[in-house]
Amino acid sequence: MTDEKIQPTDQEWAIQRRLEDLLAKLGEKYGDLTGRVEVKHRPDTSFDQIGGLRTAKAAVRGFSTVLTNPELYRRWGITPPKGVLLYGPPGTGKSLLALALATISASTFFHLKLRNLTSKFGPNTGDLLQEILAIAVQEAKAVIFLDEADALSLEHLLPAPQAREASARLVAALAERLDSIEDFSRVFVVAATSRTDAVDPSLVAPDRLDRLIEVPLPDPQAQQEIFLLKKARAEQDAGRRLFADLDFRSLLPPMGGMSGAEITEVIRRALETKVHRAGAGEEVGLVTTEDLLQEIDGYRRIKEVVEKIRYGQYL
Ligand SMILES: Nc1ncnc2c1ncn2[C@@H]1O[C@H](COP(=O)(O)OP(=O)(O)OP(=O)(O)O)[C@@H](O)[C@H]1O
Ligand SMILES: [Mg+2]
Repeated sequence: MTDEKIQPTDQEWAIQRRLEDLLAKLGEKYGDLTGRVEVKHRPDTSFDQIGGLRTAKAAVRGFSTVLTNPELYRRWGITPPKGVLLYGPPGTGKSLLALALATISASTFFHLKLRNLTSKFGPNTGDLLQEILAIAVQEAKAVIFLDEADALSLEHLLPAPQAREASARLVAALAERLDSIEDFSRVFVVAATSRTDAVDPSLVAPDRLDRLIEVPLPDPQAQQEIFLLKKARAEQDAGRRLFADLDFRSLLPPMGGMSGAEITEVIRRALETKVHRAGAGEEVGLVTTEDLLQEIDGYRRIKEVVEKIRYGQYL
């Protein structure tokens, strides 16, 4: 296995540009889609870059057959499933799993950020989603990622009674489109949420996103795996060693309960501290266990504030 990035061919660039043009056209009709819909013709995030999550990884990977060899389902007398719902706390790798599925099956990845979409288009998001799904279905193979699927409840926009009514219409439009995806058409929908209580039950009805996959917080072993992946990535990007030998027996206990995203952030901050000190002209050594313990402690102290700012609006 090599980590070298495969350079896209001219043909792939052309497809990527065509897809971006299609979205730009939709943007002219509905309003700017930047930061709301992103499309990657050839994503390159692999399952190897995801730490822990053995069960979830195996489950998601299994669905690549829907994209690469749907005929196999026919040979076993069944039709391929339409999609899955990934659920679990924020920052645990749901987006990474969806991307890795697209990568391993060489599918085009349609990332629909439903919180940002609904915030701008409100109840009209349904028409737009239908058009985007129609574009996705045209691709040879497509993974459609409905990120923050709970935002379809429109709770963040409207008072409860209006939200319920508008949301029902929006979800019906989406469900209609999902139902119209033909079997064996090499399209797979991955929805993700950290709030199962706000997901419309009709989305997970039979024949829709009726496979549920839990994406839990990492246990200590998974945390160490994630840590080592991020450390290796930083050292590879820097082209040199950045970390001293680390003592995970002292690092893991204070990391208890941290998500992969939080571990990534702690590592980033430890490296940032080095940058600042080097920038001030200090002589700085490798990142040590002691440095990391300090960052973990600092992160823990401000975590509550960070969470309020990031997620507070939905609580
Ligand atoms: N299991 C993991 N393995 C490796 N990296 C991870 C893992 N979980 C999270 N990360 C890191 O955290 C970042 C955020 O992860 P990701 O976006 O996949 O989380 P998420 O579950 O989709 O979160 P949210 O619910 O907030 O959207 C990733 O880009 C990655 O750097
Ligand atoms: Mg995500």
